[in-house]
Parts: sequence; structure tokens; C-alpha cells
Amino acid sequence: MTDKNKKLLISGDYMLLFGIGLAIIYWLIESVIHLFVSSDINFLQQLLGTSIYNTYTRIIILCLFVIFGSHVQYTINKRREAETALQESEEKYRKILESIEEGYYEVDTEGKFVFFNDSVCRILGVSKEELLGRDSSSYMDEDNQRKLAETFNEVADTGKPFTAFDCEYIINDGTRRIIETSVSLINDYKGNMLGFRGVARDITEKKDMERELLEYHKKLQASRSAAILGLAKLAEYRDYRTGSHLERIREYAKVIAQELSKNPEYADYIDAEYIEDIYNSAILHDIGKVAISDAILLKPGELTETEFEVMKRHTTLGGQALEVIESRTQGQSFLTIGKEIAYHHHERWDGSGYPKGLVGQAIPLSARIVTLADVYDALVSERSYKKAMEHDAVLEHIREGRGTQFDPDVVDAFLARMDEIKEIHHRLKDV
Ligand SMILES: [Fe+2]
Ligand SMILES: [Fe+2]
Repeated sequence: MTDKNKKLLISGDYMLLFGIGLAIIYWLIESVIHLFVSSDINFLQQLLGTSIYNTYTRIIILCLFVIFGSHVQYTINKRREAETALQESEEKYRKILESIEEGYYEVDTEGKFVFFNDSVCRILGVSKEELLGRDSSSYMDEDNQRKLAETFNEVADTGKPFTAFDCEYIINDGTRRIIETSVSLINDYKGNMLGFRGVARDITEKKDMERELLEYHKKLQASRSAAILGLAKLAEYRDYRTGSHLERIREYAKVIAQELSKNPEYADYIDAEYIEDIYNSAILHDIGKVAISDAILLKPGELTETEFEVMKRHTTLGGQALEVIESRTQGQSFLTIGKEIAYHHHERWDGSGYPKGLVGQAIPLSARIVTLADVYDALVSERSYKKAMEHDAVLEHIREGRGTQFDPDVVDAFLARMDEIKEIHHRLKDV
């Protein structure tokens, strides 16, 4: 209990006695005054009252003094209780602030620290004395100072708190720490802005771990892509020497998908993950050819009807193989798309393709994209058994197939990016 509260306690407890004392003094003075005015009546009579009216008057006044004293005592005690409760509450919150790992801070309108807990000092590696009154942006480089100022300004303008933003602080020993901070306004009872308050956490280690995890994930993706490409190439080599056919069609497929994603009809469907998946899985389109016999696969002349029926099975065989792998791995969306492509890359927009004879949008979009990429590359590339077709003739063939062999939207996206398609073909040209 503070000295102020102790004084309040003492003065409060004695106010009733004080009121009674005043009442007695009044009674005595009244008696003595009457004793001088009227000598016929002795002091005892004066003390008890010269008449019933006089006695009642004195009793009423005495009661008023007592009521006054008890009222003052009550008021003082209530105030004392309120101040004690406030002190206990402040003490409780002070202990909470000092015990939490997160830093709690308050800065004035100029961004200078006016209040903070020990965790802020620990996070920033500075003493209380150094931090008090110091500009919160003085531990940052220019970029982060600008970021902090923009955040404070936004909170001041909108009045809405900022739940979390990251800033890089340069600690006294030169190390950089990433601090996640919340910001909200401090207003007085009239609504005038006094400054900002918030909670700060050191998330440097978390960010480092996230970065390491991301790098690990990228390496894993790269090795996975390399393994898939190797596998797909082995399958492709059984058929004919195709050079960089697989590398090219995945690039074409990516460009077409990027262009289609600008179309509002596909914008929700084609996101960055979809584009990445189609890039990784397009090369698996003919994986089912590993199950086709050499006699059919490598036959120099035209295939008989029966042989062609066997050849067509590479779509379902490839799709089934990828389906089995997909069922044994979780969260690998590229395998789902790879399966669609393997099954349906010989379907035609008008329904005359195989293996299912699907029509239009019933054919998965990924397969519609890879179909065009595969046909384009096969036509513009030279093979051991055929010459390359003139580029203009290939484009004419594709335009003619718009709406029959190929999805019109896919053809439009392909033609819109023709410069990039040509550049890919030139860059990854077979030597
Ligand atoms: Fe095929
Ligand atoms: Fe192919």
C-alpha cells in the first residue's frame, strides 16, 4: 500500500470520530454560551438543555455532524478501495507484461519509445535507459524505415490496427533481426491521438527455417523434375530419336497455359501451381509407349488397323501407370495432370480422337494444351523418317484444325505467343 493510500485509510477511519467530536464541541459551546446569557440556570441544566425544544435542536445538529462525519468516512474509504483496485490491476498487468516472451511497446506520435517491457530490450539487445525516448526507426535501414513510417501513417489515417508486419532491425552488434510487429492507435479520452502501441516478436529463426525449407523444396522439385524427364526420355528413345522434343513441349505447354490464364474464362482454373504442374507432367504424355512392342513401335511402314489399335493403347497404358503412382503418393497434383495428359493427348476437339472420343471441354484442358504442343513440335521438327514441315504450313495446318482437332481457345493462345514459341523451338533445336 502506498503512503497516499495509508493516509487515506487513517483519515477515512477517523472522520466519523471527527464528526462526533465536532458535535460534542458544539454541544459544550452552546451550553457555555447559554450559561453566560442566563445565570438562573446551572451548568448541568444548560448541558442537558434549557427546554425540550433546545434539547431537540441540539440532538438534530449533533446527528447532522455525525452523518457528515460518516459520509465523509464512506467517501474516503470508497476512493481508497478504488485506488487500491487500480494499483492491483496495474501491478497485475505489469507482471503479465514482464513475464511474456513478446515485446510490448508504446511510442509517441513521432515514433519515440515511451513505454516497453523487458522483452523489447532483450529482442533489440539494448538497455532500458538506451531505449527510452529513442526513435523506433533508428535501428533500421532506409527501406525498413519507410516501411515502418508507411504502416504508422496507415494506422493513423484509417484508425484500423495492423495485425502483423515484418521489419528488419539492425541490432547494436550489427546483426540483423526480423521482428514481426502489430500496431494500433493510442488515443486519449477525447479521441486525440497520443501514439501507437503493439506487440513485437523476433521471427528471425522462423524466417531462416522457412527460407531453408523453400530452398530444400526447390532442390527436391528440381531433382524430381530431372528424374521424371530422364524416365520420360527413356520411354521416348524406344520410339525414335526425338532430341529435345520433351524439353520443348513442356515449354510450349507452359507458355500456352500462361496465355490462357489471362482469359477470364480460365483465370480461376489456371494458377501458378497449375502452370508448374503442366510443365512437369507434359513430358509424360507418351510414357505408355514403353508397353508397346518394338515390332509395332518401330515398324517402318504404315501400321495395319490391328497394329494401330495396339498402338492407341499407349494412352490408356500410360494413364493407368500414372494413376497407380498417383494413388501411392499424396498431394502430387502434377501426377493428376500427367495422368489426364497421358490418357487424353490423342483426343480431338470434335470427338474423333482416342481413346474415349471425348468432345470439346469434356477433354481435360491439360490434354488439349499438350495435344497442340505435341503436334506442333512433331510437325516443325525433323525426324529420322521425315523432313520438317515449313513453319507457315504448320501454322496453316493448326489454323485449319481450330475447332476440329484443336480447342479454339488453345489455338488462339498458342498463336498469340507465336514469337515465344518460335524462340523456344530455336533455342532448344535438335543438333
Ligand atoms: Fe502419344
Ligand atoms: Fe510427343
